[in-house]
Amino acid sequence: MAEKIDYLSPGKKINGCKKYLIQSFGCQMNERDAESLSGILEDLGYRPAQKQEEADIIILNTCCVRETAENKVYGLLGRLKKLKVAKPDLILGVCGCMPQQEDAARRLRQGFPYVDIIFGTHNIHELPRMIQQVQQDHQSVFEVWAAEQGIIENIPVRRKDKLKAWVTIMYGCNNFCTYCIVPYVRGRERSRQPDDIIKEIASLVQEGYQEVTLLGQNVNSYGKDLAANYRFADLLLDLDKIQGLQRIRFMTSHPRDFDQSLIDAIASTTKVCEHFHLPAQAGSNRILKLMNRGYTREQYLDLVRRIKAAFPRASITADLMVGFPGESEADFADTLDLVRQVRYDSAFTFVYNIRSGTPAAKMEQVPEEVKSDRIQRLIQLQNQISLENNQQEEGKVFEVLVEGETKNNPDLLAGRTRTNKLVVFPGAKELTGRLVQVKITRGRLNLLEGELVLAGAIN
Ligand code: SAM
Ligand code: SF4
Ligand code: F3S
Repeated sequence: MAEKIDYLSPGKKINGCKKYLIQSFGCQMNERDAESLSGILEDLGYRPAQKQEEADIIILNTCCVRETAENKVYGLLGRLKKLKVAKPDLILGVCGCMPQQEDAARRLRQGFPYVDIIFGTHNIHELPRMIQQVQQDHQSVFEVWAAEQGIIENIPVRRKDKLKAWVTIMYGCNNFCTYCIVPYVRGRERSRQPDDIIKEIASLVQEGYQEVTLLGQNVNSYGKDLAANYRFADLLLDLDKIQGLQRIRFMTSHPRDFDQSLIDAIASTTKVCEHFHLPAQAGSNRILKLMNRGYTREQYLDLVRRIKAAFPRASITADLMVGFPGESEADFADTLDLVRQVRYDSAFTFVYNIRSGTPAAKMEQVPEEVKSDRIQRLIQLQNQISLENNQQEEGKVFEVLVEGETKNNPDLLAGRTRTNKLVVFPGAKELTGRLVQVKITRGRLNLLEGELVLAGAIN
C-alpha cells in the first residue's frame, strides 16, 4: 500500500502580479498533472497567462510515449531560447515523463542549458521549493526522483473545465507491455484511498461538476494494492451513490483485467456511462503475446460480446497499433479482421515507435514504408466503420450533456452522449450544463448532428 503524504502549501505568496503558462504534450493523466501544477502556481499567487510572451514562468509538461511527442518539446524549447534571452527573469521549466528517462534527461540538460528547472512525474509537489531555489541561487535545478514515494494528497488544483472533471484514482502501471515506456516513467501501480476519491468527487459535485472521468493506466486493477479488499467495481458502486453526480466515465481499462463481475457491477449502476475504451493494440495472437498483453483475440472478442450483451447501446473504442516488431502481413490482416468484427465507434491508431529501454526495441523492426502503408489501410477501414456506425444513429434520441456553444458557430451547441459521441445541434447557450434529449438527424465521421427534442430539467 502506498504511503499517503499531505501536500503542505508554502503559504507565502510571490510579490507582484506574475503569470504562468503550462503546456502539456501527453495523455489525460499528463493533462491532469497540469491542473495540479496550475493549482500549485495559483496557490503561490501566479495568475494564468494567455500567451508565452506575458508569462513569468513557462512549464512544458512532457510525454515520451512516442518520438513525435518528444520532438515537439525539443522544437519548442529551441524557439523559447529567444524569449529567455530577451527576458532573463523568465523561469523555464520542463517536467513530466521525458525527464524520467535517462537519455532524454541528459539531452535536456546538455542541449538546453537555459532551462531553469527540470523535474519528473514523482515530485510535482516540490515545485514551490524549486522555484524558490532558482530565484535565490540563480542556478538551474535538476531534480528527478527515480522512484515514487507514496501518494501526495490535497495538492491544490485548477481545473480546465467547469462541468467535467478528471479524477486520478491510481498512478503508475505494472503491465510492462513490451513496446511501452509508461511503467518506467510513472512507476508501479499505486491506488488512492477510496475515501479520498469519494470526498474529492463529492466536493466537485458541490462545485457544480456533473461528470467525472476516473483516470489510471489500468483502472481495472484499482485496489489490488490496498489493504482492504476493495476493487474498481466497489469504487464505481460507491460513486454511483453520490447525489447530484450525473455521469461517471473511466479510462483506461485493460482488457485482461475486465472481468464479468465488473460488467455486472456497471450494469447495476445508473451513472456509469456505456462507453468502453478497450485498447486491443493488435488482432494477432502471436503479436499480442510478443506485446505481453495477457489476452488472446478470442478472449478479447468474448469480452466485447459480453459487454454488447449487457449494454446493447454500448460504444466500444480502442487503441490500435501497426508495425510492432515482427508484424507480418497475416498478423496485420488479423488486426483488420478484429476491427471488422468489433466495429469500433472510433479508434486511436498508432504506428509502433521504438522506445529505448523497452524489450521491443531489441526485436526485429518492420520497415517504415510497410508501417505507413498499414496505418493508412487501418485508418481507412476504421473511418468507414465509424461513419457507418454514426449513420446508424440517425433517427435515434440520445441524452446529451450540453457543454456550450461550438467554436465556429454560436447558434450551435455541442455536447456528448453517454456513449461519448459528440453531438451538435441548434439551441440557446442557456442550456449549457443541462441534460437534454437530442434526436440525431445526420451521422458524420466524427460527430452527430441533431435537433433538440426536449430540454431536461435544470440539474
Ligand atoms: N494504459 C493504456 C492501455 O494499456 O491501453 C494506454 C496508455 S498509452 C499512454 C496510450 C497508447 O499509446 C497505447 O494504448 C498504445 O497504443 C500507444 N503506445 C504506447 N507505446 C507506444 C509505442 N512505443 N509506439 C507507438 N504507440 C505506442
Ligand atoms: Fe503501457 Fe501497457 Fe501500461 Fe498501457 S498497460 S501504460 S500500454 S505498459
Ligand atoms: Fe505520455 Fe507519460 Fe502519458 S509518457 S502518454 S504523458 S504517462
